[in-house]
Amino acid sequence: MNADPMVMKYFPDTLDRAQSDSLLERFSVAIEDRGWGFWAVELKSNRDLIGFVGLNIPTAPLPFAPCVEVGWRLRPSYWGAGLATEAARASLIFGFEVLGLTKIVSFTSLGNTPSIAVMKRLGMKEVGEFDHPAVPVGNSLRTHVLYETTR
Ligand SMILES: CC(C)(COP(=O)(O)OP(=O)(O)OC[C@H]1O[C@@H](n2cnc3c(N)ncnc32)[C@H](O)[C@@H]1OP(=O)(O)O)[C@@H](O)C(=O)NCCC(=O)NCCS
Repeated sequence: MNADPMVMKYFPDTLDRAQSDSLLERFSVAIEDRGWGFWAVELKSNRDLIGFVGLNIPTAPLPFAPCVEVGWRLRPSYWGAGLATEAARASLIFGFEVLGLTKIVSFTSLGNTPSIAVMKRLGMKEVGEFDHPAVPVGNSLRTHVLYETTR
């Protein structure tokens, strides 16, 4: 999934095996430390791995930090079935009802309409744009749109 150019279209680069393993290791450590994070998502009917969805504390120095974000990345064969929205909605409920958060944000590159559509389906509201500090100046993916939802 992380090596697929279609999946990584709105990220600066695809990930090789080592980078992907290291990302998943970071997700695992966060879940061990805090009890929550970006979770692996399985199809209920056959437990096939769909991708990851969940809550995260971004490490980049974002202009609205500190914050908790909801995010998603699915294998293309599972796009178009409402699964990202279903898993993200469960994540928001967990964030508000179990963790007691008051606000959860989500952000993506300006052109990532499938991801923005998930935010809108979740009832999140657009609050503005910002330049992502981890994306190099001059890269067309640097401008991001920020959405949020409150308890
Ligand atoms: C962002 C991403 C998860 C969106 O996937 P998606 O399949 O479009 O989103 P959902 O799983 O919510 O599915 C919604 C689609 O399923 C359809 N759908 C079918 N049954 C549905 C149901 N029961 N409920 C909701 N939607 C349903 C919707 O109509 C919509 O289709 P459309 O886009 O043709 O209108 C996916 O494009 C992806 O993984 N992208 C790469 C990673 C990425 O960019 N992540 C975000 C970075 S910030």
